[in-house]
Amino acid sequence: MKKSKRFEVLADRPVNKDGFVEEWPEEGLIAMNSPLDPKPSVKVENGVIVEMDGKARDQFDMIDTFIADHAIIVDNAEKVCGTDSLKIARMLCDINVTRDQVLEYTLSMTPAKAVDVLNNMTVLEMMMGVTKMRARKQPSNQAHVTNVKDSAVQIAADAAEGALRGFDELETTVGVGRFAPTNAIGILIGSQVGRPGVLTQCALEEATELQLGMRGFTAYAETISVYGTEQVFTDGDDTPYSKAFLASCYASRGLKMRFTSGSGSEVLMGFADGKSMLYLESRCLFVTKGAGSQGTQNGSVSCVGVPGAVPGGVREILAENLLAMMLGLECASSNDQTFTHSDLRKVARSLMQMVPGTDFICSGYSSTPNYDNMFAGSNWDAEDYDDWNVIQRDLKIDAGLRPVKEDEVVAARNKAARAMQGLFKELGLPEITDAEVEAATYAHGSKEIIDRNSVEDIKAIEQMMNRGVTAIDFIKGLNNAGFPDIAESIFNMTKQKVAGDYLHTSAIIKDWHVISAVNQPNDYLGPMTGYQVEGKTWDDIKNIERAIAATDI
Ligand code: 5AD
Ligand code: CA
Repeated sequence: MKKSKRFEVLADRPVNKDGFVEEWPEEGLIAMNSPLDPKPSVKVENGVIVEMDGKARDQFDMIDTFIADHAIIVDNAEKVCGTDSLKIARMLCDINVTRDQVLEYTLSMTPAKAVDVLNNMTVLEMMMGVTKMRARKQPSNQAHVTNVKDSAVQIAADAAEGALRGFDELETTVGVGRFAPTNAIGILIGSQVGRPGVLTQCALEEATELQLGMRGFTAYAETISVYGTEQVFTDGDDTPYSKAFLASCYASRGLKMRFTSGSGSEVLMGFADGKSMLYLESRCLFVTKGAGSQGTQNGSVSCVGVPGAVPGGVREILAENLLAMMLGLECASSNDQTFTHSDLRKVARSLMQMVPGTDFICSGYSSTPNYDNMFAGSNWDAEDYDDWNVIQRDLKIDAGLRPVKEDEVVAARNKAARAMQGLFKELGLPEITDAEVEAATYAHGSKEIIDRNSVEDIKAIEQMMNRGVTAIDFIKGLNNAGFPDIAESIFNMTKQKVAGDYLHTSAIIKDWHVISAVNQPNDYLGPMTGYQVEGKTWDDIKNIERAIAATDI
């Protein structure tokens, strides 16, 4: 066959390097509306749910039982299930219905009822729903801060820059597990240099992560994974009950915590049970609610390749985020993993959360170039900072970031690196040289970072951990090393854990004030209500350095 030049050019486009599949409901390769999804139903007897989504109580699996007993306000359940799903869908995007009025219904739904409601909505209507149902009035953003060398001094520098650029939460993880303590210290120190009060975490295997939290290395946790089918849950040696217990462990030590779930995980693990991705995610979110978690990191997250490959998959991801908000949960709305070769698809996928605003638009914007991203690469990275800022300016939206000046960034990176140098010395860790400080200050990524003796580092880290160091040692060490202001920030962060105010839904800390869905609830009700981009916020967003001053034209 003679080849068309047009088709040859199109075949070369990035989007055609992406993978796509047709729907296959039996294997769960369907975003929403599977013919095999259960129909919503509920029966309550003596305050107990005895039938849910087509199953009698004696047919319930462990997830059904947990949801029926803990995740649904039963008083209203039969009435809500009997209400036309289209009516509830209309309430979600109706500017004359308040968030609280919607919650009256949505907190009494069953998992299949929630899905039945969302099946009626376009992405535009869902975005209206997100604008209103997001728990916190003010949107925000979260970043990944990692590198392939597990360089703590680079993490500190990138965290300082990230905090300065506006992220309210920063998370790291490890390439090599034994670097976890110094990575956690790096992100903690760097964050407080950039902007005091920014929350940090280090994503690890659960026991180690809880340990670091209890010792004051971190301020929150979010990779407490839940799944929508029993087989996948028990494959990970977990149950909704064990996850609820873990959630309580964090709460008892004053640490903020959210669960993680998202479409595609059950398909990837081969046990989707013939259900749609949205229905399985609905079950995850009800488990999250039932376990008492204040929030979720959801929207497929690390499994985004799966919904990304099926029809309506990006719509489904938005539906998942909205569903979380319908349960009153804080939503860190994904946009945190590479899923496409196409820059156009990348932006289109993120506009679903950027435009309405979510509690954390990216649950992991890569603050480094993606080659340093140890969460397998994000949808956005450090090379996209200016694009993100310009999109905010174009659309007059607050997507959590702010333009910054080079000299301020360099100064913050340098201070963070020097503080690490001082603290390492105080903690008896191998020296961070002046050359390393200099490299971290000006680096774009770990290619510019000086290699260290990792055997020596790991040995010293182990000794430090065996000595039982906690945040108190960091506070003392930083003070001795000549960084009393950073010491004070970490002291304040430690006090926050005693006060516990930042355990409230959607909490972030700005200027040592906890802002959450309790003291700053979303009150959107149509034009000129809710969160407004105005005054200093708009000035900060619109004033990008490259714009020519009117006087210079
Ligand atoms: N379902 C459950 N957990 C997930 N995570 C990421 N995506 C999902 C998902 N779809 C969790 C895992 C992973 C971390 C980054 O977040 O724990 O290690
Ligand atoms: Ca995250």
